[in-house]
Amino acid sequence: MNSNLPRETAARRAGADADPENGHVSALDISVEDAILARRSIRAFLPKPVPQATLRRLLDIARHAPSGSNIQPWRVHVLTGVSLTAYSEALIAAARNNEPRDMEYQYYAPEWREPFQARRRACGFGLYSAMGIERGDTQARREAFERNYLFFGAPAGFLLWIPSDLEHGSWLDYGTFIQSISLTAQNYGLATIAQGALGEYPHVAHEMFHMGNDYTLIGGMSIGWPDSDAPVNSFQPDRIEVDEFVTWLD
Ligand SMILES: Cc1cc2nc3c(=O)[nH]c(=O)nc-3n(C[C@H](O)[C@H](O)[C@H](O)COP(=O)(O)O)c2cc1C
Repeated sequence: MNSNLPRETAARRAGADADPENGHVSALDISVEDAILARRSIRAFLPKPVPQATLRRLLDIARHAPSGSNIQPWRVHVLTGVSLTAYSEALIAAARNNEPRDMEYQYYAPEWREPFQARRRACGFGLYSAMGIERGDTQARREAFERNYLFFGAPAGFLLWIPSDLEHGSWLDYGTFIQSISLTAQNYGLATIAQGALGEYPHVAHEMFHMGNDYTLIGGMSIGWPDSDAPVNSFQPDRIEVDEFVTWLD
């Protein structure tokens, strides 16, 4: 596999590299629009492994994401097997011990306000409704949330780090990288979810993966085969219309 191929060829070659012997997955060659529209955050995965060659391919394509001055601020740990289980167990233990969730950055503004509060509520309501969890059932909600720490049953996860001295612009770059992973995954029939929740107990990751404070844990992603029978995966949150966020000028 030549990772220095021109970008467009690299994506096309993915299918040609498919090797049923080692289980490498064939690319579907879907359009960018189809990939964007078909992508959903998946919260239940099948217990079927993703070949390491395919995980590498996702990162090999996503590394072409743009970044300001091309500084490419990404640093990724790929977790499968023992490392994935160990990290999951440590997060669950931290949660059950009521350790404070101390993400290394503020994901949200400290106060919720409209229109974001209503969108957030609709998202939470839709998600828990899809799972059949009542509004007041805090125990079931907590258990559902803890599935984040189990990578929702996915066989693979990425932990996403950024050098701590970088600024907002590099975090912006990171979004393009995350979406590139998710869209490439679509092209292999794989599903993903980006998870801030995987960064909620950062000391666990720093210790387990020997990362100093020169890196900040953004969170992670789960990657795998979607369980299309799982009710939670039927949830499809709305989007605001173009004219709600665009001002047309001439
Ligand atoms: C950076 C980022 C972090 C997220 N963190 C979580 C998370 O920790 N847990 C979760 O269930 N969903 C998480 N999500 C998924 C969002 O809830 C989801 O993208 C949103 O509701 C829209 O749904 P969709 O991705 O299915 O279109 C995250 C999404 C992004 C982009």
